[in-house]
Amino acid sequence: MTRKIAILGGTGAEGSGLAFRMAKAGEHVLIGSREAGRAQETARLLRERIGDAAQVEGTDNPSATAACDIAILTVPFSGVVPLLKQLKNVWKPGTIAIDTTVPLAATVGGAATRVLGVWQGSAAEQTKELLPLGVSLAAAFQNLGAEVLAGDAPVDCDVLVCSDDEKAKQVAFELVGKIPGARALNGGKLENARIVESLTALLIGLNMRYKVHGAGIRFTGLPLK
Ligand SMILES: NC(=O)c1ccc[n+]([C@@H]2O[C@H](COP(=O)([O-])OP(=O)(O)OC[C@H]3O[C@@H](n4cnc5c(N)ncnc54)[C@H](OP(=O)(O)O)[C@@H]3O)[C@@H](O)[C@H]2O)c1
Repeated sequence: MTRKIAILGGTGAEGSGLAFRMAKAGEHVLIGSREAGRAQETARLLRERIGDAAQVEGTDNPSATAACDIAILTVPFSGVVPLLKQLKNVWKPGTIAIDTTVPLAATVGGAATRVLGVWQGSAAEQTKELLPLGVSLAAAFQNLGAEVLAGDAPVDCDVLVCSDDEKAKQVAFELVGKIPGARALNGGKLENARIVESLTALLIGLNMRYKVHGAGIRFTGLPLK
């Protein structure tokens, strides 16, 4: 049986972009939503776009979580705590969770160019607290914008992967490698997610000032692969 990648909140901009890239690379994707019907419709549109070979299904977030081997969290910061509480007893031990969340002030009506202070230090460290033992976590994709993911072209972006768990880091690296043009970089411990998350607010500001949609990050002086 092929592994399944759940995209929780996969009906949204970032989640559907990641779902598109993963399914296009041949992964079996489960779109998760608060409404199964919405997820099914997103899955249908993705299958239509990618073609008959695409393995994309839609269901509610708990069913997607229960059925997956890897779960990518793509809901707004304000929805993360309620969702993870709802999923508390649903996770299979051994699941890898990947958090893309940025605690943008926009999530509570503030500016998209600012991040909120999070008691744990970052959205990812908050997520860690709410996952059961046996589910390991990496933070990644926070600087890879939805508009870039939605296109067919290779992306021009490094993806920092932060985690305290080697297996989760390895899986996140592998998924980044499924997106043409993206280069995964070892961002160190999960606590470094606080730096990565705040860079997204900076990128949003750059998008606004330069009137573009796809500002991303490239680090220099590192091996190319
Ligand atoms: N957009 C980007 O370019 C980008 C880039 C990097 C990282 N991210 C991160 O990715 C996450 C999603 O961003 P987005 O722009 O895709 O957001 P979005 O489109 O506003 O929301 C994504 C999905 O989350 C679900 N959702 C909305 N509010 C929720 C709540 N209160 N509780 C549970 N689920 C909720 C919705 O799905 P249902 O209604 O179907 O449940 C929605 O389609 C955020 O944490 C963001 O920081 C985004």
